[in-house]
Amino acid sequence: MEPADVRRVACVGAGVIGGGWVAHFLAKGYEVTAWDPAPDAEARLRRLVDAAWPALTELGLAPGASVDNLTVADTLETAVRDAEFVQESAPEDLDIKRDLLARIDAATPAGVVVSSSTSGYGMTEMQTECATPQRLVVGHPFNPPYLIPLVEVVGGERTRPWAVRWAAEFFEVAGKSVITMDREVPGFIANRLQEAIWREALHMVANGEATVEQIDASITEGPGLRWPLLGPCLTFHLAGGEGGMAHMLDHFGPSLKSPWTRLEAPELTEELRDRMVRGCEDAAGGRSIAELVAERDRAVIAVMRAIEEVRRKS
Ligand SMILES: NC(=O)c1ccc[n+]([C@@H]2O[C@H](COP(=O)([O-])OP(=O)(O)OC[C@H]3O[C@@H](n4cnc5c(N)ncnc54)[C@H](O)[C@@H]3O)[C@@H](O)[C@H]2O)c1
Repeated sequence: MEPADVRRVACVGAGVIGGGWVAHFLAKGYEVTAWDPAPDAEARLRRLVDAAWPALTELGLAPGASVDNLTVADTLETAVRDAEFVQESAPEDLDIKRDLLARIDAATPAGVVVSSSTSGYGMTEMQTECATPQRLVVGHPFNPPYLIPLVEVVGGERTRPWAVRWAAEFFEVAGKSVITMDREVPGFIANRLQEAIWREALHMVANGEATVEQIDASITEGPGLRWPLLGPCLTFHLAGGEGGMAHMLDHFGPSLKSPWTRLEAPELTEELRDRMVRGCEDAAGGRSIAELVAERDRAVIAVMRAIEEVRRKS
């Protein structure tokens, strides 16, 4: 089946993330079947979907989208037996994931792609008990999956390339922004970056170097305002003025040896310098520094105004 022809999606595990996926797929017009073993799971799930629906309505529902397209199944096997795509969002525990993915694999029609929301396990270590591991991928979302577009897609050693391509295309069709990774890395990309900040924040609080309030304000009133438009690399490309990333690295390269964070920096070799400079040129896509600065400034103003409005109405 082509990704664009999918109509029926199964969500296994319906907590914060599974419920968020359910809301997202419903809003995009899919028929969704969910299963979760907790006795109160259905009530929790319906509360989550109802709470998300006004935001999804404001964003714009797909034709035919309705909360009535949600079915909560009594068993895992019923949930997945007619599915054309399966998203697993059970607790982050390797034994649970291994056992559950094997059960999903056994009950899901042949050739249907099964994706896991895992925050950090590789599919290689999760697909060990599956009879047909070739169709299993990681599709790592961000909370809440019904609003945050990013999904990181990566296969395991026993996943076939077609399944990774199919999943990436399906998520795009389903309205997500996809990063397909060629290699399994624990935590994928965004969680590794997020985790670096998180661990440093915990160190700072533990050592009495900063309060929780100071840490949050340092991001929301600082670099956080630039990141919605430009990621950390293009942001620093602009920190180099007209010399861009090349000047930024030549200027601040020695600071990589300073104790500005507990995470050790790699050696700034010529090769790494060149890769960063070329990468920024590619990411800039022909936009000059002056054009990027103008775009950044417009974005920062737009973001600040939007936040001001949200705060005023809260
Ligand atoms: N919370 C986040 O910000 C976040 C972000 C991205 C990915 N994830 C990943 O999503 C997955 C789910 O996390 P969550 O935050 O939704 O957790 P959660 O605790 O909110 O939900 C987990 C759900 O799984 C159910 N469950 C328990 N055992 C199960 C089983 N054997 N089979 C199926 N369902 C079972 C629970 O009843 C619960 O409803 C994890 O792998 C997590 O790492 C979480």
